[in-house]
Amino acid sequence: MSRNAAPIILRPPEDDIEKRHLVARGYDQCAVTYFNWQRARKMPTEEAYLQKLLNRLKQGSRVLELGCGPGVPFTKMLAEAHERKLEIVAVDVSASQVNLAQQTIQKNEFPNVKFVRADMTEIGFNRMHFDAVVSFYTWFHLPKEEQGAMAERITRWLKPGGILLFNTSSVAEEIVWQNWMGVNMYINSLGVKGTLDLLKEYARELEVTDEIVSEKVGNQEENFLWIWAVKRL
Ligand SMILES: C[S@@+](CC[C@H](N)C(=O)[O-])C[C@H]1O[C@@H](n2cnc3c(N)ncnc32)[C@H](O)[C@@H]1O
Repeated sequence: MSRNAAPIILRPPEDDIEKRHLVARGYDQCAVTYFNWQRARKMPTEEAYLQKLLNRLKQGSRVLELGCGPGVPFTKMLAEAHERKLEIVAVDVSASQVNLAQQTIQKNEFPNVKFVRADMTEIGFNRMHFDAVVSFYTWFHLPKEEQGAMAERITRWLKPGGILLFNTSSVAEEIVWQNWMGVNMYINSLGVKGTLDLLKEYARELEVTDEIVSEKVGNQEENFLWIWAVKRL
């Protein structure tokens, strides 16, 4: 999350439903602002991780993207890879974000991508359905209680040898950030230790590799935790 100016921090709501509303409503309202900001950003770390993942996939591999946002650059990279023959399900809770993504990645050009507007904590898939699950800059929007359950479900959905790739903030905090891209945004990051502990507890079948990467977000450097986790055979 971009911290160009010192953010004004508000206390998060007690209620989980209100936390979810803040996120979904916020991303509906800031959809175009976020899209333009994201399009203009340089993202060497993200692209390197995504490329590493693409190198391990092949035509016909199934990929789930959680929190696809406006679809650039990540959904688009996935959609174009392997001669447009990955089978992608891209999920986002915000209707406006999904609309933008659908405008960029049109069905007639990319029949290999299916968009789903849904809360990722409420969707279901068969066991061992996906070769990879990816999620960029989204994990920290989930209420804490949901993060463990989410890790458990993703592990079930992955095939043996399948890969979970996601990033999150390296700082542990639960806040509402006032006027982030013009909206009040709920963030709940467990930080490095919290996230790794959570994976140990809820995703024991995953072999987890972690890396902290400093990145330029706006005018500032920020540290993000990157998780590359492989489901044991
Ligand atoms: C910071 S944006 C990241 C978007 C995209 N991954 C990217 O990196 O550009 C976070 C996205 O996660 C989505 N999101 C947040 N909580 C979600 C949830 N519970 N289920 C599905 N999507 C969610 C938001 O609507 C938003 O589009």
